[in-house]
Amino acid sequence: MNESNVSKSEHLVQFAPNGANQNHNGLSGTDGLSLIPEEYARLHADIERAASPSRCFVVGVTSAVYGEGKTTVALNLAGTMAQNSEARVTLIDFNLRNWDMQTRLNLESVKGLVDILEGAEDDITNILHKTDLDNLSFIPAGRAAANPSRLMRSSRLPEVIDALKMSSDFIVVDMAPVLPVADTKVMARLLDGVVMVVRSGVTPREIVNRAIETIGSDKVLGVVLNGVETAMPKWLQRYFS
Ligand SMILES: Nc1ncnc2c1ncn2[C@@H]1O[C@H](COP(=O)(O)OP(=O)(O)OP(=O)(O)O)[C@@H](O)[C@H]1O
Ligand SMILES: [Mg+2]
Repeated sequence: MNESNVSKSEHLVQFAPNGANQNHNGLSGTDGLSLIPEEYARLHADIERAASPSRCFVVGVTSAVYGEGKTTVALNLAGTMAQNSEARVTLIDFNLRNWDMQTRLNLESVKGLVDILEGAEDDITNILHKTDLDNLSFIPAGRAAANPSRLMRSSRLPEVIDALKMSSDFIVVDMAPVLPVADTKVMARLLDGVVMVVRSGVTPREIVNRAIETIGSDKVLGVVLNGVETAMPKWLQRYFS
């Protein structure tokens, strides 16, 4: 297959949580290295440039609306970062309304962030799942939140993030979209930077612009155009000159 004809989301970086069924995403080890698209390597470089070597950098992956490819990008980005460096990377599913990352990694019934935030679990090490990559850990949502808005504003959340920062160089957070979920803006306060996923040719530019302004364009480190292989259109470039 010609690389240039493959949409970005088909390039899944290959890793799996320890013990997970490795057939689920064609996962495991470093076999997928040659499939890592330039886009993820570029994003990785952008994030490394923005980060300070002496402290953990927290990057959120969001989009204007639902279904633009956030989870796909967060998985690939965290996998790329872990595979291509020795940095300790923690991937968190914090899309509490559509917490599908553990399903995609074939980890169904495991404890996660919701268990900690709702007080059903105290020990953060019990929600930190190892993966086949030594330097990549994964925190699933675990289960549905009784009240996602409340959890986004919970005072435990910054405590949990602070604790995770002690054992991570980078934290990649799969988030809810910006415009339909007002809490995403609240959560953005805990982030050092944001990657905005745009479903190319589907999401109208006014909607994307509104999402970037809502999050704060200063916070947006980069844009992933999901579904095309072309350069970033001019109307988006103004944010990144
Ligand atoms: N470029 C693409 N081409 C075709 N399908 C894609 C592409 N990118 C993502 N998908 C598919 O679209 C669906 C939505 O992608 P994904 O779950 O990554 O989006 P999301 O932004 O996380 O969605 P949500 O807002 O529901 O959390 C998935 O089934 C995914 O496999
Ligand atoms: Mg998602």
